[in-house]
Amino acid sequence: MSEKKRIVISRYIGERAMSLLNELDRDEWDIILWKENEPASREWIEKNVPNATGLLVLLTDKVNESLLEIAGPSLRIVSTMSVGYDHVDTSALRKRGIKLGFTPDVLTFAVADLTVLLCLMATRNAGEGLTLVKNGQWPNLAFGPFTLCGPQIGAGVDGTKPYTVGFVGFGRIAQATLKRLAPYDISRCIYTNSTSRQAPGPQAPSEADKELAKSLGVGEIFAAPLDYVAKESDLVIVLAPGGPSTMHIIDERFLRAMKNHAVLVNTSRGTLVDTDALVTALREKWIWGTGLDVVEGEPLIKADHPLLALPRAVVLPHIGSATTDTREAMAMLAVTNLVNGVLGRELEREVKI
Ligand code: DGY
Repeated sequence: MSEKKRIVISRYIGERAMSLLNELDRDEWDIILWKENEPASREWIEKNVPNATGLLVLLTDKVNESLLEIAGPSLRIVSTMSVGYDHVDTSALRKRGIKLGFTPDVLTFAVADLTVLLCLMATRNAGEGLTLVKNGQWPNLAFGPFTLCGPQIGAGVDGTKPYTVGFVGFGRIAQATLKRLAPYDISRCIYTNSTSRQAPGPQAPSEADKELAKSLGVGEIFAAPLDYVAKESDLVIVLAPGGPSTMHIIDERFLRAMKNHAVLVNTSRGTLVDTDALVTALREKWIWGTGLDVVEGEPLIKADHPLLALPRAVVLPHIGSATTDTREAMAMLAVTNLVNGVLGRELEREVKI
């Protein structure tokens, strides 16, 4: 009797998504599942991946040369339950002809919502307020007229203050975030993309920029270099992919160029922000505050990380896509990609590598 083909899944991803695996005949396919709640150990993945046809991972699992070597030539598809894929070595996949599935779009609204939450929390000192209340220090605040005051997002009390939102990366999630911020009367949205990042100056709005500005009621939208975004923005939102090309794109130079009342929010990947420089920027008040859903080297395993001691840093544990609906949709898409991949069909959402 010939050996069964195998699929390896590095985390239990819910009943509905797992039921999609029923399409695979169990006389032909073995499904190897890590059943614990925490990430699968490297040892477990390496032990089970040899001769696998498909591998489903989360962003905590690194898919690199050495893992692909261990997997061997049977591997046809890696399916990640995430939109980001900086944990996957795409060139190692490409050279072996392995497909990469991912889960864009279904998480756009959830991540955009959380981005807005962090924008508001960081500008309005909500992190510090929560800590004070939890520590029983509310009475000390005594409704001081300017206690815990922060800058206001948008056009201000009389609706006339110019307000600029800057985006580092302006893809689907960034645009959904702008849409949510638009009712705050945003006079300008400036953004960087891979071409404008190093350009000598701001670019004329494209037709798409003009259309978007009109439909959202935002004064104007245009691409600009990174230093222009740093200098001009009242709120900077980082929503670009991770990986070597964006490593520490927010560095000391960027942070020093920001306005003192400006806030930096990062809901993409921790590697985009130089954490040491950010800690200094907050300590020395180069900027007002920060809201982070991602931090370089996450998870932060110790509560003594310097960021956590800073009252103006609101730090969440990478929960951008964590609504039940969204995670279920991501899981279903990841399994659909996996099943399509192992059966030699087109993936529902494939990264063109
Ligand atoms: C992703 O899917 O890449 C996100 O980081 C999840 O929040």
